[in-house]
Amino acid sequence: MSKIAIYPGSFDPITNGHIDILNRALKVFNKVILAIACNPRKNSLFTVDERIRLAREIFKNNKRVVVDSFDGLLVDYVRKKKANVVIRGLRAVSDFEYEFQMAHMNKKLAPEIETFFMMTGQEHFYISSQTVKEVASFRGCIKGIVPPIVEKALREKYGSK
Ligand code: PNS
Repeated sequence: MSKIAIYPGSFDPITNGHIDILNRALKVFNKVILAIACNPRKNSLFTVDERIRLAREIFKNNKRVVVDSFDGLLVDYVRKKKANVVIRGLRAVSDFEYEFQMAHMNKKLAPEIETFFMMTGQEHFYISSQTVKEVASFRGCIKGIVPPIVEKALREKYGSK
């Protein structure tokens, strides 16, 4: 069986924490599809196309990573890709309740799909797209928290010092 995992999320924008999770997943799965959710109800900073472009640039030298987007239910997308594993990253206890609900809802909708949780490294556990945007919006330093290409894209959104 070819081991494909889907790593879904908003990735608005992708951070070093996400990259850490994806690299961990690559130790277990042959191919990981980073699937960017198109959620018109969410007020995103980056468009889906911008998020795709950033992630593709970051993983351009890794043939085992595919960057894609999806709308609608995640489980429908996972089935369409003929996969049965979803990867989610866990940082702190505060992530748990939301992830627990989502994993169980997905299990109810598609019992054949498993959710795998991976813990971010301790150097990344405090990082979230939300806090990165907050710091960047006040032109704070986000070096080492996001890849340089994302840092540049955030500077372009918010203006540089
Ligand atoms: O990075 P995020 O915002 O925590 O990712 C959440 C995401 C996109 C994985 C989740 O909202 C999702 O799967 N959305 C698609 C709609 C869906 O399937 N919802 C049912 C799960 S409760």
